[in-house]
Amino acid sequence: MLDIDKFIQDAINEIREKVRDGNAIIALSGGVDSSVCTKLAHMAIGERLTPVYVDTGLMREGETDQIKKVFSETNLVVVDAREEFFNALKGVSDPEEKRKIIGEQFVRVFERIAEEKKADYLIQGTIYPDIIESMGGIKSHHNVGGFPVKYAFKDVVEPLRDLYKDEVREVAKKIGLPEEISERMPFPGPGLAVRVIGEVTPENIEVVRRATKIVEDELEEYQKWQAFAALVGKATGVKGDIRVWGYIISIRAVDSRDGMTADPLSIEYGVLRKIALRITSEIPEVARVVYDITPKPPSTIEYE
Ligand code: XMP
Repeated sequence: MLDIDKFIQDAINEIREKVRDGNAIIALSGGVDSSVCTKLAHMAIGERLTPVYVDTGLMREGETDQIKKVFSETNLVVVDAREEFFNALKGVSDPEEKRKIIGEQFVRVFERIAEEKKADYLIQGTIYPDIIESMGGIKSHHNVGGFPVKYAFKDVVEPLRDLYKDEVREVAKKIGLPEEISERMPFPGPGLAVRVIGEVTPENIEVVRRATKIVEDELEEYQKWQAFAALVGKATGVKGDIRVWGYIISIRAVDSRDGMTADPLSIEYGVLRKIALRITSEIPEVARVVYDITPKPPSTIEYE
């Protein structure tokens, strides 16, 4: 069992000892890991920490505003990079290529701010399963050094490196982060882009964002690891009397301890039906909704 109070004190000490009188920067995504890490680092070094939140245009609904609110006491820098990201992703449909471009784009924006702030140290919210998964070479996490940062930091501090997700959530509650963050579902670094199969556009990202909000609302009461919508292709439908060629939304809802294996939720038919009706009526571009019943393995949780 993790001794939460001891962990918090040790993490604060570690950050203070490493950063000393220097200053540090952290990429804040709004997920529980980077939020906890930002809060701990702020407790440790206060104003000498610059949290950087990059609005990639690939975030969930309301996320940017929430971050601004929760971290208003810090030296938070919010970068609106939506246009840069969508331009860089134009015409790209290969999953790893998408991840690579997003990672590189992210690092570019981040380095720009590190340069501006003359940051000495990099603080990262890397947790134990990130380290394990990236060792297997399954995918490229940009928070585990998958993307080389050219900027010369004196050192990198990763205070959460030994924790599992449920432990990070415990710490989040203890240090007073709001429930929307401590209980927030994991969200991939490349954001909604890995939940749209193929090329992303501002339009299809908006569709998946709205569908995700509906899935989250309707499955709020369920015990789960993640529940979201993905845009998996196109299919015919009839809306009014007109035949349409619309998007297929897949509902992904799984339980897991650490994301390495996962089981789909057993959701009542009535609830699934309601989600399908809401998505197809509230989002005109969607013609069909399916429920993904595949565990991990053999599937992954995300779609790309
Ligand atoms: P998969 O899709 O590999 O995902 O079964 C396992 C867990 O990891 C999350 N995930 C990511 N998290 N950066 C992250 O920080 C990423 O690039 C990334 N890709 C997937 C995913 O949401 C799931 O919880």
